[in-house]
Amino acid sequence: MEKLLKEAKTIIENAYVPYSNFRVAAVLKLKNGETITGVNIENASYGLSMCAERSALFSAYSKGITKQEIESLLVYTDKDYFVSPCGACRQVMNELLEADTKVIMANSKDEFKVMKNKELLPAGFSKEDL
Ligand code: THU
Repeated sequence: MEKLLKEAKTIIENAYVPYSNFRVAAVLKLKNGETITGVNIENASYGLSMCAERSALFSAYSKGITKQEIESLLVYTDKDYFVSPCGACRQVMNELLEADTKVIMANSKDEFKVMKNKELLPAGFSKEDL
């Protein structure tokens, strides 16, 4: 987890946040040891802004990576408290990560809080509902 946090602390500088000035970094750890990262990217048309978690997940899937290959997702903010994924990201994580995948929240005090993906969106909507 410390290694993932270190990477998150480096890439969080790439967050494009001229409107909120709230930086978020996400690091996906693959079972083969590789990492894939994302940051939040905002837009003057605010609703088009993209969260770090979805940036990382879409980047992974764009490379052909599937949920079975993903071991964990670390979400980091440079605040001294924990920030957990927003509702839109939870919905996407519900589909693009396995139910038992670890979601690690990390803060500027180097503290970690670990949850399972399925705990973040109980009774969520999924493709089984279609
Ligand atoms: N944000 C994320 O990147 N991930 C989250 O889980 C929460 C919110 C971003 C969106 C926006 O750019 C900024 O944080 C403030 O909401």
